[in-house]
Amino acid sequence: MIFVLLATISLLFIHHGQCAMQATANVRLDGTSQSIGTLQFYQSDPSSAVKITGALTLSNISSNLGFHVHALGVSESMPNCTAAGSHFNPYNTSHGPREANITSRHVGDLGNIVTLANGTAIINIEDKIVQLYTSNQSIINLSIVVHYGMDDGGSTGIKDSATTGNAGGRVACGLIKLASSNGLMNKPTLSALFLTIVLTFMMFLY
Ligand SMILES: *[C@@H]1O[C@H](CO)[C@@H](O)[C@H](O)[C@H]1NC(C)=O
Ligand SMILES: *[C@@H]1O[C@H](CO)[C@@H](O)[C@H](O)[C@H]1NC(C)=O
Ligand SMILES: *[C@@H]1O[C@H](CO)[C@@H](O)[C@H](O)[C@H]1NC(C)=O
Ligand SMILES: *[C@@H]1O[C@H](CO)[C@@H](O)[C@H](O)[C@H]1NC(C)=O
Ligand SMILES: *[C@@H]1O[C@H](CO)[C@@H](O)[C@H](O)[C@H]1NC(C)=O
Ligand SMILES: *[C@@H]1O[C@H](CO)[C@@H](O)[C@H](O)[C@H]1NC(C)=O
Ligand SMILES: *[C@@H]1O[C@H](CO)[C@@H](O)[C@H](O)[C@H]1NC(C)=O
Repeated sequence: MIFVLLATISLLFIHHGQCAMQATANVRLDGTSQSIGTLQFYQSDPSSAVKITGALTLSNISSNLGFHVHALGVSESMPNCTAAGSHFNPYNTSHGPREANITSRHVGDLGNIVTLANGTAIINIEDKIVQLYTSNQSIINLSIVVHYGMDDGGSTGIKDSATTGNAGGRVACGLIKLASSNGLMNKPTLSALFLTIVLTFMMFLY
């Protein structure tokens, strides 16, 4: 009986593993091949938040720097950040801070990242509006862009505030691509499959 239960649990793990989507973006300085770090994107199912983690090495210290998903993909090896186009805005809404709801920000509006005194930005964001699953909000094959200035959230009225948060030029960017051809998390899936086979075997032995 206990083995049936355990086998069911591990099957659930397999299911969970298969549903999870994972993507990465190697972020490079504009127009160069110089990488400043790689970001991980993870989403366990379409209704949970996308977790964005990683560390980027920048030359601005102790600064807030605008951080957005832009509408077009860029070259993976030597990105032209201007070619990433405008903020990813599938619903033609106005610019807003990350905390705003879907009608009050662009889907791609992820606010700011903060650099430490040594220039490193440790990124640990959870966002419920961007998606890795197929939908109008999917950011797969689009670009992540780091700006020179702070995103003011769109409400200051200064210069480009209403459209871009007045975050200025583009320091670095990267193509957001699925971690494997289908986005499956192969490792957890394979180990859960192995566990299930072993447990099923044991069920028959008893
Ligand atoms: C970068 O992309 C922009 C917009 O597509 C284009 O106008 C510009 O010429 C490109 N720059 C280079 C160096 O290719
Ligand atoms: C997007 O919204 C603006 C006004 O906020 C409007 O002028 C423009 O025509 C809209 N674009 C599309 C493609 O609907
Ligand atoms: C979204 O936020 C705006 C501004 O805070 C608010 O006016 C609007 O009612 C909110 N919409 C939803 C669906 O929560
Ligand atoms: C910058 O400082 C942080 C926090 O102390 C540390 O985690 C990070 O590794 C440092 N970055 C570099 C490039 O040394
Ligand atoms: C996705 O976009 C299409 C085309 O703009 C639109 O017809 C459809 O209603 C959108 N779907 C959702 C869920 O918003
Ligand atoms: C992303 O781009 C790749 C390569 O062009 C393509 O095969 C894939 O279908 C695209 N995926 C999505 C979700 O657009
Ligand atoms: C970041 O550095 C650039 C280039 O030196 C500068 O123009 C910009 O003002 C700096 N941004 C912040 C937020 O300090």
